[in-house]
Amino acid sequence: MLAGAGPDHSHFTPLCVPEIRGNEWKYVKQCLDEGWVSSVGAFVVRFEQELAQRTGARFGIATSSGTAALHIALLVAGVEPEDEVIVSGLTFIAPANAVRYVGAWPVFVDAEPEFWQMDPERLLDFLERRCVWRNGALQNRESGRRVRAILPVHILGHPVDMDPILEAVRRYDLVVVEDATESLGATYRGRKVGHLGDISCFSFNGNKVITTGGGGIILTDREDWAERARHLTTQAKSDPTEYIHNEIGFNYRLTNLQAAVGVAQLELLDDYVAAKRQIAARYHEGLARVRGILLPREAAWAESIWWLYTIQVRGTEAGIGSRDLMRILQAVGIESRPLWQPLHLSPAHAGANDQCCTVAEDLYREGLSLPSSVGLCPDEQDRVVRAIIEAV
Ligand SMILES: Cc1ncc(COP(=O)(O)O)c(C=O)c1O
Repeated sequence: MLAGAGPDHSHFTPLCVPEIRGNEWKYVKQCLDEGWVSSVGAFVVRFEQELAQRTGARFGIATSSGTAALHIALLVAGVEPEDEVIVSGLTFIAPANAVRYVGAWPVFVDAEPEFWQMDPERLLDFLERRCVWRNGALQNRESGRRVRAILPVHILGHPVDMDPILEAVRRYDLVVVEDATESLGATYRGRKVGHLGDISCFSFNGNKVITTGGGGIILTDREDWAERARHLTTQAKSDPTEYIHNEIGFNYRLTNLQAAVGVAQLELLDDYVAAKRQIAARYHEGLARVRGILLPREAAWAESIWWLYTIQVRGTEAGIGSRDLMRILQAVGIESRPLWQPLHLSPAHAGANDQCCTVAEDLYREGLSLPSSVGLCPDEQDRVVRAIIEAV
């Protein structure tokens, strides 16, 4: 393959691949020419500042992955072993795993059926009926554990309905750690996703709207939290010269090479979001009124970035289930993918709690994400639409 030519997708339509068409080569070359390839460098600083600016946060701390960002965010937010953290039940597993990394326990809250995000009503129900205020903290009646934080995940590009959650947080003295990974560029009632809670995290792995190859970031307005996050991500080295470490830290820094890619990608974020929105509009049009196919929706209070356009396949009406449709698409070179196993069913989190998440279970059975790369061209997209219509 020629340098810069990109992979050949002429016979295969992938689910979601990076779009490399900006200053990536130039900035990476600059790192190589100047020798700033590791975890210190001007691109790291730029990436942190520019991302913070985009969401309106005061501080950004780049990390080696989104999972690392979540781990550190939970630590600086004061989550302790045996605490509980309320997490979206329908999400990629990383946020729930991060809760376990700090020795705390996730409590999963179901998705609401309209936009598939953490259901504020279910959350309030849990806080009001299943928790009790005791000794200056909120306690889960059943487990006896302290409930410390809420971790809403804005899935698939669409924001969570945050206002009721933020109100509950104030009432119960909790903190909000936002996982905004899949929704960079989205807005909630005109506010930027990633600047709605106390601290937020993003991942920039290869399938996100912008990528650094691998990487993440923590954003917050709190200077003390930002300093502690920086400290913990750099092995908690507490002396500028001597190798003295005042606690157990982590090697979680992003490299300058990765940040160089990130800075170039960020320059085109608005274009990429516009492309994603156009892709969604074309799917909406092409798949409207297809029997048994339910289309995803955008709330009146939200602007989604449609990270992965995901349909619901109603087996009885469509005459075919989501997994069979996935196999039929695969046979003609179109990649699609089911949603995540709801976390209350995950063997990895067995015994975490007994919340029932039936909406998440339905979405897991019926959901199918369609090709959504920024570079997906209309012809390719029409091929996907035709293949779906033929299959059902
Ligand atoms: C919502 C969410 N959070 C966290 C992550 C983990 O990020 P990373 O792969 O960079 O660790 C992902 C996906 O990768 C994700 O989709």
